Amino acid sequence: MSNENKSIIEFDFTLICEYFSAIERQGPGSKEATIKALSFVDNLNDNSKIADLGCGTGGQTMVLAQNAPGTITGIDLFPKFIDLFNENAKMYSLQDRVKGVVGSMDDLPFAEGELDLIWSEGAIYNIGFKKGLSYWKQFLKCGGYLAVTEACWFTPQRPVEINDFWMEAYPEIDTIPEKIAQIQDAGYVPVASFILPESCWTDNFYVHQKAAQVKFLEKYPNNKSAQELVANERREAELYSKYKEYYGYVFFICSSR
Ligand SMILES: C[S@@+](CC[C@H](N)C(=O)[O-])C[C@H]1O[C@@H](n2cnc3c(N)ncnc32)[C@H](O)[C@@H]1O
Repeated sequence: MSNENKSIIEFDFTLICEYFSAIERQGPGSKEATIKALSFVDNLNDNSKIADLGCGTGGQTMVLAQNAPGTITGIDLFPKFIDLFNENAKMYSLQDRVKGVVGSMDDLPFAEGELDLIWSEGAIYNIGFKKGLSYWKQFLKCGGYLAVTEACWFTPQRPVEINDFWMEAYPEIDTIPEKIAQIQDAGYVPVASFILPESCWTDNFYVHQKAAQVKFLEKYPNNKSAQELVANERREAELYSKYKEYYGYVFFICSSR
């Protein structure tokens, strides 16, 4: 089907997928942060079952697979991301242990108590932190682990401009102590938490977008949706540069009782 025949919403999704498919990660993060978070997870073996929810094209999943035993199922809403995910698994010769499946993180295809580890970088916000914590817990074995990154405030107060931006984008953003309390309230034991370094946002995410944005705008010179998408991403990067001392992503690692 040509793009002209698609509804605006379908076309926007196609554009968003195309834009983010051009970069290795679809959110802030790094190989080092993934490995550090994994160092807090115990008891994985060749029989372990791991799920990576909102896996995107699998940047972090491949790192996970190279550093942890067991099988990994990546779940993402977008078929194009899952196609690229499975191509990446093949490229790294991980296809026997790593498989991407189209699905939604709020309707998981796992049995109760099936998983040893749930991983999710920069994605739980799609269903909300509290909902994700509580819904996902049933799929974890007793003593299983959950490792997620989540947007957090670093200070109790912040400038109006950045506060308003986040209140509109993701009102569930909160301070680290509040997030840890939410983890405990959902029945997990908080094991560790650490702030993702600034380079996870700049060198690993926004810098790669710069080159992708130029190509993207060249390909869609008169497309309003494409222009708006790039403008939004650029604004987000500018806000990060201006207000990075007030917010960022935090890795939370917790175990299920
Ligand atoms: C910011 S990206 C992070 C991707 C990847 N984890 C990373 O760190 O590079 C968020 C991902 O969540 C996916 N997503 C959005 N809603 C979802 C849902 N309901 N179920 C599964 N995946 C979803 C998006 O397609 C996207 O790949």
